[in-house]
Amino acid sequence: MANSPRPIILPSMAALQLFSFFICSSVPDFAAALTRQYTFNIKYQNFTRLCHTRSLVTVNGQFPGPRLVAREGDRVLVTVVNHVAENITIHWHGVRQLTSGWADGPAYVTQCPIQTGQAYTYNFTITGQRGTLLWHAHLSWLRSSLYGPIIILPKLNESYPFKKPYKEIPILFGEWFNVDPEAVIAQALQTGAGPNVSDAYTINGLPGPLYNCSAKDTYKLKVKPGKTYLLRLINAALNDELFFSIANHTLTVVEADAVYVKPFDVDTLLISPGQTTNVLLKTKPHFPNATFFMLAGPYFSGQGTFDNSTTAGVLVYKHPSSNNHFPSLKPTLPPFNATAFVANFTMKFRSLASAKFPANVPQIVDRRFFFTVGLGTSPCPKNTTCQGPNNNTKFSASINNVSFVLPSLALLQSYFFGQSNGVFTSDFPQNPATPFNYTGAPPNNTMVSNGTKTVVLTFNTSVELVLQGTSILGAESHPLHLHGFNFFVVGQGFGNYDPNKDPSTFNLADPVERNTAGVPAGGWIAIRFLADNPGVWFMHCHLDIHTSWGLRMAWIVLDGPQPNQKLPPPPSDLPKC
Ligand code: C2O
Repeated sequence: MANSPRPIILPSMAALQLFSFFICSSVPDFAAALTRQYTFNIKYQNFTRLCHTRSLVTVNGQFPGPRLVAREGDRVLVTVVNHVAENITIHWHGVRQLTSGWADGPAYVTQCPIQTGQAYTYNFTITGQRGTLLWHAHLSWLRSSLYGPIIILPKLNESYPFKKPYKEIPILFGEWFNVDPEAVIAQALQTGAGPNVSDAYTINGLPGPLYNCSAKDTYKLKVKPGKTYLLRLINAALNDELFFSIANHTLTVVEADAVYVKPFDVDTLLISPGQTTNVLLKTKPHFPNATFFMLAGPYFSGQGTFDNSTTAGVLVYKHPSSNNHFPSLKPTLPPFNATAFVANFTMKFRSLASAKFPANVPQIVDRRFFFTVGLGTSPCPKNTTCQGPNNNTKFSASINNVSFVLPSLALLQSYFFGQSNGVFTSDFPQNPATPFNYTGAPPNNTMVSNGTKTVVLTFNTSVELVLQGTSILGAESHPLHLHGFNFFVVGQGFGNYDPNKDPSTFNLADPVERNTAGVPAGGWIAIRFLADNPGVWFMHCHLDIHTSWGLRMAWIVLDGPQPNQKLPPPPSDLPKC
């Protein structure tokens, strides 16, 4: 039972919620909210891909991990029990965590890791979200095997703003390494060089037939003709944005990061690490005499090496006479560096912005921030040789030239107990200290500074943040992820952001609302969010190598005046460092 991915519905908790419904809520459907309890046993399990067997760190022996299913409004309790040697934390990526920051999960930001033999129960309620998200480990590169879908169904008796699909299918993209990814990142950080790249991409854990020794490990999506399927796409890859396409089929995008969007059709889409999107797949009206490859391959805009391979699954129509051998059709993915395609694709996203699902875009801005994001260098330690750029430096990455150093105690605890001394400071720069031509010829000095600096915001501050990519060591796309909030992408462009000209192009009516958005290679995005969630909230590039190099920072949002606007004290089982 402990290994079961099925939720255990606790009648007593449900009754408790019913009880609280009568005393404190007048929302009629709140009574339907449940508490869903899961146990995630972290344990080793052998898996073989590409003829290489590795002992993976898994949840309940599964790879990818189990589905977490809940309805909007439900409370979720996940007890994570660590049976492996590694420290563990799990992050519920995209879950808003309203006043439940202790359950967010990034190591040394909201919690100390769960150590061997220890357990921690993540306790949160899903509020105002519906669609697909993902959970993943949030410590070093453990996400490579510790990830799974979060499926948020509409409340009981509520429907989708599109035709009810015949079936719903999670499609998770990941990366397979023939060696331990923990060794890969440890080596990269030591030598200062770029990391070794993955050996394959995967669809639901399977690389597919385009790799050696892999044909039997192919994901097959069996469909019937004349039906509509909802594919819940999740990019859980460590370091790569991915194009995805199914031969001879059009996909209708209906949701992104658990927010509905105005539907639009595409043949090929881009999904960045940390992004999730629901698409409708209409199958052919009659049995076609073909099977259809679904391919995912990298979008890479930077310099250096990357995994330039392609994962394939197949869409198979369940034919009544099954001994037919049909030809397989393959889609064509864009070239790996198709930046113009990516910009064109991301501009198609618009919030649904209906009466039922409004886009609450902050119209007035209280505080403006301008952050540069990109790569940089740091010095090679004395008496060692490094393999990073410009002979003998180490690769680094930063926001406003600050490469964020994770503390050895968790930020949220130090903040909550007023013990920031020696843990973090509150002087994260609002603008670059030294402005330069961000997307032009890079400056001579590319050294970053180091620090554990945060921005402190008063409750309900309306924030506008311009994220400006730099061309230092190559302009590169950065999928930026903000914990604890959804933000609206009100503007984007190439080159340097112009504060005089660009705001007039902002979309303040129906911009897409997400938790992860790509800062274009050699360009910028402007986002807005309302700081209505007290706590400490991590923001970072979701390419793990960039996060490891320091492209990360944290926002501190102070308590509001009302009781329900305050961060409660930590749960008693919160892990200790
Ligand atoms: Cu999906 Cu901070 O991560």
